[in-house]
Amino acid sequence: LTRLVADNLREIPDFPEPGVLFRDITPLLANGPAFSELIDGLAEHYRGRIDAVAGLESRGFILAAPLAVRLGIGMLTVRKGGKLPGPVIGVDYALEYGTARMELRPETVRAGDRVLIIDDVLATGGTAAASIELVERAGGSVEAICMLLELAELGGRAHLGGRGVDAVVVY
Ligand code: PRP
Ligand code: MG
Repeated sequence: LTRLVADNLREIPDFPEPGVLFRDITPLLANGPAFSELIDGLAEHYRGRIDAVAGLESRGFILAAPLAVRLGIGMLTVRKGGKLPGPVIGVDYALEYGTARMELRPETVRAGDRVLIIDDVLATGGTAAASIELVERAGGSVEAICMLLELAELGGRAHLGGRGVDAVVVY
């Protein structure tokens, strides 16, 4: 899977800001055999170990939905602030400039469910850390965290409370 993913990314220098090397997953998604091999590989890895998949808006949804369907389990939507109807719980977190917020409808989480958190990129870890807190506050148990790409130099793992991260490709 590592090779499959790495070979289907486009690297775009200075996007969205000067000095940032953007890793574009759109070629991977557009490649039918590659996308399905990725989802099949993840499904085999997690089958039997999880009861629900939590996708992080928005690019995490692209991975969470097909994986949930493949495994025949539910998908939880962890969304950006203000998108979900109540009742919701939310966590604010710091960005380089300003703050962001992720929200979850706790009613969508069954008590004790083993939840996989999935997203496309682990950068500073703020989005993932907020999402872990939300799933746990809603009564779920975070069984694993899966990131398609990890930008290791940004140190995101350090913000995840010592949890392991299953990163398909680490840069
Ligand atoms: C990106 C990426 C991750 C997050 C990682 O999402 O898809 O979700 O940032 O950053 P962090 O580890 O520093 O929190 P973005 O907010 O750009 O939104 P999108 O998924 O809707 O494109
Ligand atoms: Mg995102």
